[in-house]
Amino acid sequence: MKLLDGKACSESILQELTDQTRELTAAGKRSPHLVAILVGENPASETYVASKQANCEKVGFRSTLIRYASDVTSEVLLAKLQELNQDPEVDGILVQLPLPKQLSETLVIETISPEKDVDGFHPVNIGRMSKNIPAFLPATPGGILQLLSRNDIETAGKHCVVLGRSNIVGMPMAILMARNTNPGNATVTICHSRTADLKAMTLQADILIAAVGKPLMVTADMVKSGAVVVDVGIHRVADDTKPKGYRIVGDVDFDAVAPIASAITPVPGGVGPMTIAQLLLNTMEAYLRK
Ligand SMILES: NC(=O)c1ccc[n+]([C@@H]2O[C@H](COP(=O)([O-])OP(=O)(O)OC[C@H]3O[C@@H](n4cnc5c(N)ncnc54)[C@H](OP(=O)(O)O)[C@@H]3O)[C@@H](O)[C@H]2O)c1
Repeated sequence: MKLLDGKACSESILQELTDQTRELTAAGKRSPHLVAILVGENPASETYVASKQANCEKVGFRSTLIRYASDVTSEVLLAKLQELNQDPEVDGILVQLPLPKQLSETLVIETISPEKDVDGFHPVNIGRMSKNIPAFLPATPGGILQLLSRNDIETAGKHCVVLGRSNIVGMPMAILMARNTNPGNATVTICHSRTADLKAMTLQADILIAAVGKPLMVTADMVKSGAVVVDVGIHRVADDTKPKGYRIVGDVDFDAVAPIASAITPVPGGVGPMTIAQLLLNTMEAYLRK
C-alpha cells in the first residue's frame, strides 16, 4: 500500500512557489497578494483561515485578513468585495464559508471577480472548468488532482466513484475526473444520499473518492482490493486517550481500508494540505495572468 502523503506533496508545491516568488521579487516585482475575508467567529473557519495565511507567508505571498462581525450586512460585505475586485494590488480573494444566515453565499461568490476567484467557486470558473478551458480549479478537487498526478496514479480508463455531490467537492471532482485531461479520462459514477445501493457502487471503484462528511463511513467491506482511496472528510471524534480529548478522522476507516488499498490518503495529512497548496497555486496563477 502506498501512502498518498499530502503533507509532503504540498511541501514540494510550497517550495516551488517560494522559489517562483523569490525570482519575482528579485526582479523588482511585487509578490502575489491574497485577501481572506472572515465573518463571525466560527472556530473551524478561524483555523482554516489562519492556516491559509500562514502558508501564504511561508511562500512569500502578501496576505491580508479582513474580519467582520457575524451581523455584518450584505451591503457592507458586497461593497468591500467590489473594492477588492478593483484593487490592482489584490490578486486573489476568498470569503471563508460558511456564512451567517443573513448573507447569501451564492451572491457573495458571484460578486467576487472571476479573475480573482482563487477558491474556484464562481460559476464562470466552474463553467470554464467543465468546458476544459483555463480556469481556477476549486481548491480541494484541484489539490486532489495534484496529489494523484504527483504520485503517478493512473486515472485514464479507470472507474472512479465519487461519494458526495457538493458544489465545492463532489461535483467538481467528478467533472475533473471525467474530463479529457491527465489526470482525468476516468469513467465516473457520482453517489449521494439517495444512491440506492452504495456498497454495490463503491465495490466497483478503481479510484474511490469519499466526500460525504460522515466519520469512518467507508468500511473495508465497501472497498475493492487494490483500489486507490482518497479521503476528503475531516472530523473530530471524542478520544479520551488523546491529550486534547479528540482525534481527527476522515470519511474512511483508514486502519481497516489501508491494507486492502493500493494507495490511500491519510487524515490528517492527506487532502487537507493539498487544498491549501491548490489555493496558493491559483493565487500565483491569478497574479501571473495580470
Ligand atoms: N480536506 C479538505 O480540505 C476539505 C475541504 C472541504 C470539505 N472537507 C470535508 O469533506 C467532507 C465533505 O464536504 P462537503 O462540503 O462536500 O460536504 P456536504 O456539502 O455536506 O456534502 C456531502 C455529500 O455527501 C452526500 N452524502 C451524505 N450522506 C451520505 C450517505 N450516507 N451516502 C451517500 N452520500 C451521502 C450528500 O448527499 P446529498 O447531496 O444527497 O445530500 C452530499 O452530496 C466534510 O467532512 C468536510 O469537512 C474537507
